[in-house]
Amino acid sequence: MTKDFPKKISSVLQKAKAGEKITMLTAYDFSIASVIDQCGIDVILVGDSLANVVLGLQSTKEVGMTEMLHHAKAVRRAVKNALLIGDMPFNSYQLNPRDALKNAKRFVDEAGCDGVKIEWFDHCLDVSEEIIKAGIPVVGHVGLTPQTADKLGGFKVQGKDAAGARRIIDQAQALENKGCFSIVLECIPENIAAEITQILEIPTIGIGAGPKCDGQVLVTHDLLGLVSHFHPKFAKQYVDVASLIKKGIKEFSREVKQGKFPDQEHSYRMSNEQLKMFKSISEE
Ligand code: KIV
Repeated sequence: MTKDFPKKISSVLQKAKAGEKITMLTAYDFSIASVIDQCGIDVILVGDSLANVVLGLQSTKEVGMTEMLHHAKAVRRAVKNALLIGDMPFNSYQLNPRDALKNAKRFVDEAGCDGVKIEWFDHCLDVSEEIIKAGIPVVGHVGLTPQTADKLGGFKVQGKDAAGARRIIDQAQALENKGCFSIVLECIPENIAAEITQILEIPTIGIGAGPKCDGQVLVTHDLLGLVSHFHPKFAKQYVDVASLIKKGIKEFSREVKQGKFPDQEHSYRMSNEQLKMFKSISEE
């Protein structure tokens, strides 16, 4: 590896070098970010998937810097241990390298992120170079890049043919050469992800890219079962939090209707002496 990275990044890189798999999850708010951080997840990404899973929007292209910084700040307040990466939203880095750097700096200076992630696009190399030169660590993202999915034939596995696979491998190598410290590989055949992982020195973090990557990332809401509308094949659901939430809410509603909540345990009382005084002054 060519660069001196900040301590937190070096420690993730060392883990990967030692063969320990890297874990990355998304977070968008204080509460869930605290829980994820307490679980010892290595990297927390304030993903632009915020658009879909939190804001109910159709496309990640619909969130901008204002929303991303707002949520990144909340996550920053919670995260004590993990490396915190801000996902640069659509049009915050595609227009020109100067504006890209300005926006990357906002993730670091205003939201306290340790680095940023950018998705591959035509001028990705110039933009990543500009940001990295300014000392901001960058995670690349190749394969299925949701912000430009329309140019890739939609939300489909990428690199399934020889030319497509070659292109993704070249992109990943070019990003490493520019100084990215890690690369997300999204939705590509597992053997191509394995090949990239072998070729690159920096760790690959897969999502729908098979088991050979140096680490894995999931959208936390998919893992927790909090998303009802879209289930990509790679999004393994580990628990059914939506059912638990519904159970709690129905119980609350039933108890309120039946007059069982709030009970004594959840109410405040005045002492009898104070109550007596209160009554007597009220009667005067
Ligand atoms: O925004 C996001 O959640 C992401 C992950 C899928 C890597 O970019």
